[in-house]
Amino acid sequence: MRKVELNIINAKILVEDNLVEAGVSINQGKIVKVAKSPNLPASDVTVDSQNMLMIPGVVDVHVHLRDMNLSYKEDFSSGTQAAIMGGVTTVLDMPNTSPPTNNAERMKEKIDKSAKMIYSNVGFFGALSLDPHETSMMAKEGAIGFKLYLNDSQYNSLNDEKLLMRVLKPVRSSGVPLSVHAEFPQELTQETGSVGTRYEIERFMRSHDPQMEADAVSMCLNMAKESDAHVHICHLSTRTALDLVSRAKLAGTPVTAEVTPHHLLLSYKELNRFGSYAKMVPPLRTAKDAEGLMKGLVDGAVDVIVSDHAPHTVEEKKQRFIDAPSGIPGLETMLPLVLTEMLEKRITLRRVIQTMSENPTQLFKLKDMGKIAEGYNADIVLVDLHKEKRIEAQAFRSKAKYTPFAGRIVKGIPVMTVVNGIPVMRDGEILGKPGDGRVIRHVEVKRNDRLTVGDD
Ligand code: NCD
Ligand code: ZN
Ligand code: ZN
Ligand code: ZN
Repeated sequence: MRKVELNIINAKILVEDNLVEAGVSINQGKIVKVAKSPNLPASDVTVDSQNMLMIPGVVDVHVHLRDMNLSYKEDFSSGTQAAIMGGVTTVLDMPNTSPPTNNAERMKEKIDKSAKMIYSNVGFFGALSLDPHETSMMAKEGAIGFKLYLNDSQYNSLNDEKLLMRVLKPVRSSGVPLSVHAEFPQELTQETGSVGTRYEIERFMRSHDPQMEADAVSMCLNMAKESDAHVHICHLSTRTALDLVSRAKLAGTPVTAEVTPHHLLLSYKELNRFGSYAKMVPPLRTAKDAEGLMKGLVDGAVDVIVSDHAPHTVEEKKQRFIDAPSGIPGLETMLPLVLTEMLEKRITLRRVIQTMSENPTQLFKLKDMGKIAEGYNADIVLVDLHKEKRIEAQAFRSKAKYTPFAGRIVKGIPVMTVVNGIPVMRDGEILGKPGDGRVIRHVEVKRNDRLTVGDD
């Protein structure tokens, strides 16, 4: 083999269920060889990883990079810098922006603007449109997925199931998943008398009753079954909803589901401690729900871990609880939090790699990503499993400098992130340049790429 650009040697790589000592050769953004050092070709540059764990870069399929008119909360640069600090090499950006990504022109604007700014790879969701033609046009522009907000009519107001079947057609034929925020909105009647944060928290929790999630999930499952489109349930938060999903899966419905680290590891009790810094939708639930989600993650009922990185400014979060926007940043904390669970033996490394790299890549049909193997895109993370760190929001690259995980000690820190063969982060320092990441687009394939094998 000819000389390659980069070798990363002396790493531990998971092969089947065993950690083996090996390295990788990288050329022109691709992994060209995985082998022990003596068997790698010569290289221009060699990085000795000194026994670090080497895993595929994390693929986060639920991220709000904001930018455009909301760039004061986060922009393509700050958001993707946060990604590579956290070992995330590809993010899929949500369309609930200003303006919303709900037609091909707006998607094109995001693609063009971001291309020169990004440090990680980025794909764009389109908001599912009432007009099937718009959805088709976004698919042609390369939409990596579509998004339906059942909780917010600002982005799409679709509650008529017949209509849904019609607007789902272009999603089904493009073969990308429809990610759904599965909560129905609930209007609470005005009550008087009670004031204060505790009351506001209680009211917020009631307006996001677990049943609102269960009902919306039921509708989604029906939709997936009837339309045969791949429906992906976002940020599952309750055991009840999880049970519905896992039963539908057994029955062959083309459905998958994701969970966030906060719903896995925190409970609503954090609201009393962190106030609006722990406010997101769906809200934090009970410890029993969290436990159930972790079990689902281990046994396969849950397919993917996502950050739902949803940055807001501290000024916005500082308002009264009821007025503060929902959402927390998560790109920089997700992998260390999950690896800490792994070190405490609550989840295997195999399952971590599946749910953070392999499954998201497969479900969203990303080409040549999510694996450390010859021919794959060189998106790689080196992790120090002995290194500990206290989570501190002030150190975030994200503009959103708050987190309900503040003060937690995590173990398992990404020490090097490689995107498209370029070491873009090393020892907490950004080495990459804007534009080192690339925009990824879904390429339409004219075949029946449905999720499960069925009757046609
Ligand atoms: C998200 C946001 O801020 O965009 N907020 C949140 O609490 N999760 C929206 C969403 O993911 O539903
Ligand atoms: Zn959501
Ligand atoms: Zn979100
Ligand atoms: Zn069929």
